[in-house]
Amino acid sequence: MSKLSASILGIALVGAAASVTAQSSPNEQLPAGPMQVKAAAACSNCHEARIIVQQRLSKAAWTKEMDKMVKWGAEVDPKERDGLIDYFSANFGPDLPAYVAPNSAVATASKSPAKAKH
Ligand code: HEC
Repeated sequence: MSKLSASILGIALVGAAASVTAQSSPNEQLPAGPMQVKAAAACSNCHEARIIVQQRLSKAAWTKEMDKMVKWGAEVDPKERDGLIDYFSANFGPDLPAYVAPNSAVATASKSPAKAKH
């Protein structure tokens, strides 16, 4: 009996942890790594990290994007340009699953999906 309730509690805790993770949406944060601080410093003056995080770009496209942002005023140390391009392409490359906007994620989790038609 106590073993059973312990495992039920365990399941409940795992469930709670999962929903906390979903709510604090990693989708809106720049991923951890040595370039995270540099990227945040160079790229968050004018817009949220979200505009970066939702991209799925090739390395060539990230290179163009970086150079465009620098032209617009992003302060990127030329020594860090390549590192940042690698960081963005590694984390937001074309092979990644599509970005899920936080609102849709919450809506999908709380309601059942609309596809359940009769
Ligand atoms: C000087 C202001 C400024 C800084 C700093 C800046 N951006 Fe932007 N960024 C913008 C603006 C303005 C837009 C919106 C452009 C539009 O509406 O097309 C944008 C849009 C974007 C987009 C969406 C695609 C696009 O081209 O519109 C990406 C990705 C992006 N920025 C990445 C970055 C990265 C990476 C950095 C850091 C290296 C950065 N930005 C720094 C101004 C800036």
